[in-house]
Amino acid sequence: MTSPLATRLAPAALLLPDGRPARAAWTLSESAVHINHGSFGAVPLVAQEHQNALRAEMDSMPVGWFPALPSRIADARTSIAAFFEVDASTLAIVPNASAGASVVFSSLPVTRGLEIVVTDHGYGAVTMGAERLARRWDGTVLTAHIPLDATAAEAHDAVVALFSDRTALVVVDQITSPTARFLPVDTISDEAKRRGIPVLVDAAHVPALYPAPTAGLSCDFWVGNLHKFACAPRGTAVLIAQGDLVGELYPLVDSWGARDPFPARFDSQGTLDLTSYLAAPTSLTFIEETWGWDTARRYLSELADYAEHTIAAAFTAFTGESHLVDVGMPVNALRLVRLPDGIAGDQESANALRDRMLDAFGVEGAFTSFDGVGYFRLSTHVYNTAADYDHFAEFCVPALVEWASASS
Ligand SMILES: Cc1ncc(COP(=O)(O)O)c(C=O)c1O
Repeated sequence: MTSPLATRLAPAALLLPDGRPARAAWTLSESAVHINHGSFGAVPLVAQEHQNALRAEMDSMPVGWFPALPSRIADARTSIAAFFEVDASTLAIVPNASAGASVVFSSLPVTRGLEIVVTDHGYGAVTMGAERLARRWDGTVLTAHIPLDATAAEAHDAVVALFSDRTALVVVDQITSPTARFLPVDTISDEAKRRGIPVLVDAAHVPALYPAPTAGLSCDFWVGNLHKFACAPRGTAVLIAQGDLVGELYPLVDSWGARDPFPARFDSQGTLDLTSYLAAPTSLTFIEETWGWDTARRYLSELADYAEHTIAAAFTAFTGESHLVDVGMPVNALRLVRLPDGIAGDQESANALRDRMLDAFGVEGAFTSFDGVGYFRLSTHVYNTAADYDHFAEFCVPALVEWASASS
């Protein structure tokens, strides 16, 4: 059914080759509506089965498995590097984007009294890592305030204005988590490079949403999750690095690869279940062979247009206000819709709203807060259809309006 208030046409749902809906290739609960791929991803059955088979192999022959593991990880790394269109010698596999950022934070030499530049759109856990590094340095974190609707030039200027000869590191997100927008990491990295300042780009959401996402970027370090939009088994991310500091990068677990160069030293991590790394290429190949990533990306973007406008229009029917949000540099598969005043005024209450929505309506969603304003953050993936967002517009929007008016 198409919502009467929708102002965009929904794309035709994607099907599997045998005619079943795309969702049949996932194992998501039928009793829930899953419109928050962006937070924790979702793994297609074929990749789960591959990982389970790898685990069975590991458990049947541990002594055969572990000594051979680094060379199998190196093979997976080569295949993952091809997906990113980078040379395998620049890419290490790490468990998650947080770990990739921690590798950078723990690898940089300690230099006293220096500054780290972050933004107020940064992912809280990564920003806390930058703050801990600043404490170790006896230094400071400077936070660039970027208005939600800032253009690329305005966002660039807000970050670069904090650069000085004391800046030792810049941490900036390519796609932001609370605000579902791009930041101009290309021009920020170029300016930082010109001044000799290292840059860590937190691109947790980016892998698979855009082809060759590091092409032309001059940043030193780039971290991205494969267990988000690339649908890999959880515990799979990449750290892509270039420049003078590459040799300083060591995995969080010191192990037998310690004497190897980057990134081979990341292939040895002691006795750990790294089957997610080996099964990750299965997810990439599954989507490529079933629909093609270009088709998938187009679908994600068109469905997000539909979802954003349908849900915003449903709020407008109650409030008479626009709930569309200008995020300055929008993203294809993640969008914000403004909530009515009075709810999700900070991230803690936004998280509480996520839990209440799941309990009350079986909807897996994401709520965020920025500058005291609450937002519903929707995601799309190939297994989603217009019906998921119609459901939210029909059942969740009236409840959110009621919860907002009860709280004011
Ligand atoms: C921008 C950003 N950075 C880092 C992370 C952390 O990802 P992970 O929990 O996989 O380490 C996330 C997770 O949503 C994120 O959105």
